[in-house]
Amino acid sequence: MIWHPFTPQLGSDAPLKLVRGEREYLFDAAGKRYVDAVASWWTMVHGHNHPEIIAAITRQLQTLDHAMLAGFTHEPAERLAAKLLALSDNHFAHVFYSDNGSTAVEIMLKLALQYWYNLSEVQRNIFVKFDAAYHGDTVGAMSVAGDSLFNRPFRNLLFQTHEFAHPTEGESAEAILVALESYLAEHARVVVGIVIEPLIAAAGGMVFQTTETLKRIAALAKKYNVLLLCDEVFTGLGRTGALFAWQKAQVMPDIVALAKGLTGGVLPLAATLTTKKIHAAFASDDPAKTFYHGHTMTGNPPGCAAALASLDLLMRPGTLENIKALEEKMRTRWQTIATRYGDKISNVRALGAVSVANLVTHSEKPGYVFSAVNAIKRQALAEGVILRPLGNVIYVTPPYNISDAALDITFAAIEKIVKHHEPA
Ligand SMILES: Cc1ncc(COP(=O)(O)O)c(C=O)c1O
Repeated sequence: MIWHPFTPQLGSDAPLKLVRGEREYLFDAAGKRYVDAVASWWTMVHGHNHPEIIAAITRQLQTLDHAMLAGFTHEPAERLAAKLLALSDNHFAHVFYSDNGSTAVEIMLKLALQYWYNLSEVQRNIFVKFDAAYHGDTVGAMSVAGDSLFNRPFRNLLFQTHEFAHPTEGESAEAILVALESYLAEHARVVVGIVIEPLIAAAGGMVFQTTETLKRIAALAKKYNVLLLCDEVFTGLGRTGALFAWQKAQVMPDIVALAKGLTGGVLPLAATLTTKKIHAAFASDDPAKTFYHGHTMTGNPPGCAAALASLDLLMRPGTLENIKALEEKMRTRWQTIATRYGDKISNVRALGAVSVANLVTHSEKPGYVFSAVNAIKRQALAEGVILRPLGNVIYVTPPYNISDAALDITFAAIEKIVKHHEPA
């Protein structure tokens, strides 16, 4: 039996068996079609079974399937690293490969800690984090997330952090930034860095943050000489409408973690990008300064080939522009629903290929404990749409090339769900 991820082992609906994918659609064994409105956990940026990505993987498999990357190298890994660095305006200098978002984050944290260790600043062992954060399920990634149902059983194992509320908008953001500055003014010498999901804290409830706030956090990191560590596992590769959120906000992270959309969602591959400054602390013949980290499948050639093809598609004229148009289309559709059912949804927001609203709920704590989640997923499936609400937060994060017809199906399903929702 499969132990399904993030799935209660009693009382869950039986998983839906899928047999085929095409563009923004998935098909079940009975031939029923579903709009993949969440792009399969935010990965399928070009939709399912994109012929150019499949062809690139197939070509790669005919020459080199896999080889370890310690002591060896190969063209797909080299080409992809060069491409990622070029697309990052050469702000970054090195690419460390791994397999998924959690490992990309884990590597970011370990590199950051060892950077200071190599500079003999061993007293630095505190990561600054925000309460809406989610960075993955490995122990380091859980440590820099906000406290949640997900990481509570492991609390005693997590390493040292200092948590701030997530700075969203207006006065509360201002107060948080003031508190952050006063903390850094006093404690910067023990701080490794500030870990943040730039512009959108995703799994924590699609909580947005302004570019101005992100800029100010980056400025504080610089002023107090702590590292800026950006988790772009969700926001990277076009999701916010720019290739990277750090580029959109014009901030300069020291390290950035990428995964999810990197291969267009087709193969598991992740990358952690670092600046020259970070790498310089490891450029030593002292074995104690080596970064002893590496996963077996690191730099997997078909994964790199998929990523190269996916990046080609992303950088093709029109793709990123299209995301801006998609943002508008989704905002308009949410606003139509809000006009009709203003008492049932709130906080409509959209950025790039992310659009969100909160179902109004009075009687229970919103978030993962929100009991209507399963009913909503079921209702959406019945309408031929795959949704995965984060508690009372309903979001649409489709493939960037989703058709208007599929958007209509998606928002018609959402409208039905909202209509039947009882705020109570
Ligand atoms: C911002 C962010 N970081 C890290 C992760 C973890 O990625 P993975 O599930 O590939 O380990 C996720 C997954 O949702 C994420 O949204």
